[in-house]
Amino acid sequence: MSDKKTPHARGIDTEAIRAAARNVDDGAVTAGYPPERKEIIALLNAALATELVCVLRYTRHYFTVSGLINRPIKAEFLKHAQEEQDHADLLADRIIQLNGEPDFNPATLMDRSHAEYDDSRSINAMIRANLIAERVAIEAYRQMITTIGEDDPTTRQMLVGIMAKEEEHAEEMRDLLA
Ligand SMILES: [Fe+2]
Ligand SMILES: [Fe+2]
Repeated sequence: MSDKKTPHARGIDTEAIRAAARNVDDGAVTAGYPPERKEIIALLNAALATELVCVLRYTRHYFTVSGLINRPIKAEFLKHAQEEQDHADLLADRIIQLNGEPDFNPATLMDRSHAEYDDSRSINAMIRANLIAERVAIEAYRQMITTIGEDDPTTRQMLVGIMAKEEEHAEEMRDLLA
């Protein structure tokens, strides 16, 4: 290599980075963020709707299940409801960081969600509905991760983490079904 730049400095134009960084209104979104920002926010809002529907479904299942023998199942439903809420919080927070608007509108929630609500009466049917919803969520996250690719590593990493949790949830529901 003939150029005298150190490996650290190579390829990084500090002056250009500093000039662009003065655009402080954009917060965490810097000059190099890909032009697909709005599409990424739309993906995150669909995931947010999915998580909110999952919170409602698991919460209803938690309150509906009764009986001493069903306590472990009830506890599992509650844990999942809380973890889906954690996912919703992460997604809403990331949408804000990307200068988007998290959509919590209940009137359009079902249309925007990938997974479905469930009002089954039997515990088996509830577990089955949850397992299907988890499988829907896993697949939706997989496709989102592929779509985002290398465009936004932070969002990608967050989605990978959420998807890993959904895989755990699916496994736990399949265990309960057995
Ligand atoms: Fe989730
Ligand atoms: Fe889940």
